Amino acid sequence: MAIDFDPKQLGSELYNGGFRPMFIGGQWVGAQSGEVSDAVNPATGERLATIPDAGVVDVDRAVLAARRAFEGPWSKFSPYERQAVLLKIAELVERDWDKLCVSDTLDMGMPIMRTLANKRRVLGMLRFYAGMATALHGETIDNSIPGEIVSFTRKEPVGVVAAIIPWNAPTAATVWKIAPALATGCTVVLKPAEDASLTPLMIARLMQEAGVPDGVVNVVTGKGSVAGARLAEHPDVNKVVFTGSTLTGQSIARAAVGNLKKVSLELGGKSPVIVCKDADIDRAVPVAAMAVFAHSGQICIAGSRLFVAREIHDEFVARVADFAKALRIGHGIETDTDIGPIVNSRQARVIEDYIASGQTEGARLLTGGSRQSGPVYDGGNFLTPTVFADVHDDMRIAREEIFGPVISAFKFDSIDEVTSRANASPYGLAAGIFTKDLGTAHKLARRLKAGSVWVNMYHAIDPAVPFGGMKMSGYGREGGVEHLYEYLETKAVWINTD
Ligand code: NAI
Ligand code: MG
Repeated sequence: MAIDFDPKQLGSELYNGGFRPMFIGGQWVGAQSGEVSDAVNPATGERLATIPDAGVVDVDRAVLAARRAFEGPWSKFSPYERQAVLLKIAELVERDWDKLCVSDTLDMGMPIMRTLANKRRVLGMLRFYAGMATALHGETIDNSIPGEIVSFTRKEPVGVVAAIIPWNAPTAATVWKIAPALATGCTVVLKPAEDASLTPLMIARLMQEAGVPDGVVNVVTGKGSVAGARLAEHPDVNKVVFTGSTLTGQSIARAAVGNLKKVSLELGGKSPVIVCKDADIDRAVPVAAMAVFAHSGQICIAGSRLFVAREIHDEFVARVADFAKALRIGHGIETDTDIGPIVNSRQARVIEDYIASGQTEGARLLTGGSRQSGPVYDGGNFLTPTVFADVHDDMRIAREEIFGPVISAFKFDSIDEVTSRANASPYGLAAGIFTKDLGTAHKLARRLKAGSVWVNMYHAIDPAVPFGGMKMSGYGREGGVEHLYEYLETKAVWINTD
C-alpha cells in the first residue's frame, strides 16, 4: 500500500500537548473536578495532550444527556434518517481517515500501515449498520388462543448503552460499538481506555459534524476504576458493551447485576494455531507468526499457542523464529515499521515477567525475549518478537494471556490429541488451522471451542460476520445481524380483534 501523505508531519500538526476536552450532551467540557491525565505516545514517552479525568458526577451527566436524547430528539428520527446520519459519519470518517490513523498510531503505538489497513473494516461497519437501520422488523406470529387474537412483535432499542473499550484498536472499537447503537435508535456513553482516548474524541467531533443530535453520543475520558465502574453500575444505563480483559469483564458483569442491565463482553484469549503435517509451510509461516506479532501481540485474537505436527515441527518453528528476527521494530509512525512499542511500561513489565517465567519453567527460547535498546527506542517500551519451543501445556506461558509478542510452540501427533489440548483453555475466542485436507479442516473447525475459526488464514474480521468468544472469552457477538439483537428488546403485542 502506498500512501500520499507524511504521517510524521500530520502527527505534529495534530497534537502539541494541549488540553482535549470530553464530549457530554453536545458540549466539549473538562471534568467537574478539573482533574486531567496525560495522553502519552508509547513510542517516545512524550505527552501528546491532556484529557479530563471524569468523575462520577461527569459520568452521571453523560448518562442523563444520553437518556434525554433517547427519549427526546433521537426517538423522532425515522430509520431512514438514522441511516442517513450513519452514512454521513462514514463519509466524514473516510475524509479524515489519515488523521484518525495517525492519531491511533501516536496514542497507542500500532504501526501506521496497520492502522491505515483497517479502513474497509471500519467504514464497512458504519455502512453495514446504516443499511440495517431500515431493515429492522418484528414478526407477525400465529397464536393458538381461541378467538380472533392477533399477535406480533416489535423490535425496540434497549435505551442508553455504555460502551467501554480498550486501547488496542480505538477507532475500530469506537465505530464497532456506536454504529449498531445508532442503527437501532439507542444512545451511547463511550468510555475509551486511559491509554488511547484521543481518537475516540476525534470521532465524536465527526459525529457532531454529521448532525448526530446532542446527547446521542457522549465520550467520557478517565479511569476505568472510576468512570468505567460508574457506567457499569449506573441504574439508568440499560446495556453495557465491553471489550477488554476477562478480569474487568467479570467485574462489569457483577456491577451490572444491580439493575439487571444487558451485558455483552468481548474478552481475552489464548488462541491456538494448529499447523498440520500437510500444511503449505511457505504460506503458513508468515501467517502463523503475524497471528501473534501483529501489533506486538496486543490483540485479543493473538494466536499465541502454536501447535505444529511433530513431522514438520522443528523446521516450522525455526522458520517462524527467522521470520521474527527479520521484523523491523520501530516507532509506529514510521511507514517501514513492522512491530511498534508496547502500550505502556506496566504492560511491558507484565510481558517480561511472562518471558522470565517461560525460561524458569524450562521452555527453549529460540529468539527474542529482550528489550530493544538504542537511541530510537529508549523513550518507549520495545520488546523483541519472542518464540519459545518445547513448551509444556502446564507452563504459565501456555495457559495465560500474555498480550505481548510471545509465541509458545508445541508438538502434536494426532488430530484428536491436538483438539483436546487446544480446547483445554478457559478461553474460546479464536483458532487457526493450516491444512490442505478438507476433512481435517472441517473436523477441526467443528470441534474447536472458539468463536472464530480461520482455515489457511488468520485475523479476518468483517462487518457482516459475527465475532466474539465462548467460555471466558465472553458472550455476545459483534458484527452481522446478531449484533443488532444485542441492542434491541423484543416486545410482543396482542390485539383482540373480536
Ligand atoms: P482493562 O480490561 O482493564 O481495560 C479495558 C477498559 O475497561 C478500559 O477502558 C478501562 O478503563 C476499563 N476498565 C478498567 N477497569 C474497569 C472497571 N472496574 N469497570 C469498568 N471499566 C473498567 O485492560 P487493560 O488494563 O488495558 O489491559 C490489561 C490486560 O487486559 C491486557 O494485558 C490484556 O491481557 C487484556 N486486554 C484484552 C483486550 C482484548 O481485546 N481482549 C484489550 C485490552 C486488554
Ligand atoms: Mg497513549
